[in-house]
Amino acid sequence: MSGMTEKIKACGEKYRDYLIEMRRYFHQHPELSLKEEETGKKIKEELESFGIPCRHVGTPCSNGVVGTIEGGRPGRTIMLRADMDALPIVEETGYSYTSVNDGVMHACGHDCHIAILLTAARILQDLRQELSGTVRVVFQPAEEIGRGAGMMIADGVLEGVDACYASHVWATLPAGTIAVDPGSVMAAGSKFEIFVKGISGHGAEPHKSVDPLLTTAAIAMNLQSIVSREIDTQEPSVLTIGHMESGSAFNIIPAEGYMEGTTRTFSRAVDDAWADMIRRVAENTAAAYRAKAEMKYTYLLGPVVNDEEMTELVRGSVRKVGGEALLGHMKPTPVAEDFSEYQKRIPGVMAFVGVGNADCDAVYPQHSCHYKVDESALLNGALVYAQVAADFLG
Ligand code: NI
Repeated sequence: MSGMTEKIKACGEKYRDYLIEMRRYFHQHPELSLKEEETGKKIKEELESFGIPCRHVGTPCSNGVVGTIEGGRPGRTIMLRADMDALPIVEETGYSYTSVNDGVMHACGHDCHIAILLTAARILQDLRQELSGTVRVVFQPAEEIGRGAGMMIADGVLEGVDACYASHVWATLPAGTIAVDPGSVMAAGSKFEIFVKGISGHGAEPHKSVDPLLTTAAIAMNLQSIVSREIDTQEPSVLTIGHMESGSAFNIIPAEGYMEGTTRTFSRAVDDAWADMIRRVAENTAAAYRAKAEMKYTYLLGPVVNDEEMTELVRGSVRKVGGEALLGHMKPTPVAEDFSEYQKRIPGVMAFVGVGNADCDAVYPQHSCHYKVDESALLNGALVYAQVAADFLG
């Protein structure tokens, strides 16, 4: 174990209770996306109490917080990120520190993320003389609605940053492991809408009309051939139509049809190709039925893709903190995360901190009203943040 790792661990030991106290405080006071005002204030207060200069960022809400830890010597800059928003869920955990905000719950573990990064920031601030370079700690709002990262980037949090790191607590990963894998680890997710135009008429005389209802149904069927016939089978992808409507009565051919759906993929190439593939199938199917179709594609989030070189560095950091036993693996998850926005611009890694443990009833999935974590796993999460920063800056 290197000298720096020993120092990080010694500091971590001092702040073990602090981490749990913070996690429970934020768990009890959850706030929805773009409404994290009190959360942001508390984070800023905590950082300032450690002597870390910080400011609020974000437009339209300035609930985000960016703090700067200057090392003893000049060097590169690494960004450590945590998200901080909660979900519109009625909590059913039975925790003594259950949410006091009705209908709002930290059911994705972002309370843990805040506590972990505050603790890592405190450790790094104590040890800043030993660092060559700068650590930027970023507490980001509005992750659950996929908007926070974009807001932070628009406000310049990536300026001068060379790499970024974040971790997400994960219920299906056993406590005592931190999964760090190269390549795509979380999926891209987007939305498409298709507007079909026909010519309305009497149900008894279809030859005098153009039927948009039948056309919409045909487009729904044909879209399924994109995943089954066109995309590489090695690139797991999903196209789901979640809503479709046309017509108003049994004997009328309507004028319009509509559908909307979502796409998911782990591949940046497939993600870039969706819009063209869906438009081609929709327009040409409509043409075959003498109708017209227009497609609107709303790009939401790209895949979370871990940089190979950074992955190696983070794996090394995990080994330093907890040996080979701490280093785990996880299958990519089809959930989307706006950390992908940072990774599109600079190399970054998203790791997963296992918090699953049947002994403390931490067996429920992310976003469950029963969501629980094994709190004893969180300190290693904080130590790895600090170690990654130390290793990257050297
Ligand atoms: Ni989350």
